[in-house]
Amino acid sequence: MRIIVTGAAGFIGFHCVQKFVALGHEVVGVDNINSYYDVRLKYARLRETGIDNVEEETLVQSTKYPNYRFIKGDLSHPEFVKKLFNFPWLFTNNYSLFTNNSPVIVHLAAQAGVRYSLENPDAYIQSNILGFYNILEACRENPVHHLIYASSSSVYGNSMKVPFRETDMTDDTVSLYAATKKSNELFAFNYSHLFRIPTTGLRFFTVYGPWGRPDMAYYSFAEKISRGEEIRLFNAGDMYRDFTYIDDIVEGITRLLDKPPVAEAPDVPNRILNIGHSEPVFMKDFMRLIQEKLGVEANIVNMPMQDTDVYKTYADVSALEALTGYHPQTDIATGLGKFLDWFRGYKVI
Ligand SMILES: NC(=O)c1ccc[n+]([C@@H]2O[C@H](COP(=O)([O-])OP(=O)(O)OC[C@H]3O[C@@H](n4cnc5c(N)ncnc54)[C@H](O)[C@@H]3O)[C@@H](O)[C@H]2O)c1
Repeated sequence: MRIIVTGAAGFIGFHCVQKFVALGHEVVGVDNINSYYDVRLKYARLRETGIDNVEEETLVQSTKYPNYRFIKGDLSHPEFVKKLFNFPWLFTNNYSLFTNNSPVIVHLAAQAGVRYSLENPDAYIQSNILGFYNILEACRENPVHHLIYASSSSVYGNSMKVPFRETDMTDDTVSLYAATKKSNELFAFNYSHLFRIPTTGLRFFTVYGPWGRPDMAYYSFAEKISRGEEIRLFNAGDMYRDFTYIDDIVEGITRLLDKPPVAEAPDVPNRILNIGHSEPVFMKDFMRLIQEKLGVEANIVNMPMQDTDVYKTYADVSALEALTGYHPQTDIATGLGKFLDWFRGYKVI
């Protein structure tokens, strides 16, 4: 398959690229390498996939994988997205627009983070709304085999009804971030309906693992505990999160690549799926585990619940399971251990 991975210098995108190239797919990664968190980590991920000497809007061949190339560019710029979707230019030999040759788009590029959406709402509108709209418009002009895009468990808002099911009401988002993800789902349905673009939206539940995101709690806890700094624990750790190990996420996405939703009109080739571990972890237990594994006692300062925070996230993944046989393999103790092994060895360069 030919696959475009957006957000390829990001955490989930980087792992997807590695898996897809290992499976022999022809992959093009895209990212604007923004500075929401330390860009050195993004460049280190790119180097890990053989991408160096990145220049604006220039296709760079990986020195490690013959079937991987990368382009730096901003998806909120329509001209760049139009250029990107000129597929014959992107892919190598024998490209044609026959259906079975149309690329799969794995769209992961976004402004992530719930709390940051209070500080910098513009970034969310630019990347998550405009960027996604540009991708949809490009898919309208160019046949794609399947558009898989990142939504988020945050669309469930403060719903107390767990586990979260795809059929639950998701109109009461509690952050701008969640509202942009919910909008993506609505836009996708609309484009699937009007232009028959096969779309799958994935509601990710707290993804963690090696090469992870420094803005996420598990990562910043590890950093702060290692440096002896205090940790601000919201709602005194009285919260549950459905932590999903990165390899399980990538496995789930891989299983979906060649499974676009198929529908005859008036049905719409559109679906939304949860992708999580489906085992909520109590944050106090998580804190104990991370301290045990690091062998250091944390200096915890208990904080009240934040308005943007959700008490319990917990996915029902039976729809994804039924469709693909997806079954998460990595429990929190194993996954956290793998993250910390990487974390101890990772040096910022
Ligand atoms: N990691 C999680 O737990 C989690 C949970 C729910 C949803 N998600 C969603 O999954 C996707 C991937 O998340 P991640 O954890 O890998 O985040 P990430 O921040 O590591 O990766 C996103 C990448 O997108 C790039 N990007 C942002 N705006 C762009 C633009 N306008 N043009 C081109 N590139 C742009 C960034 O530079 C970044 O490298 C995101 O859409 C995120 O909202 C992640």
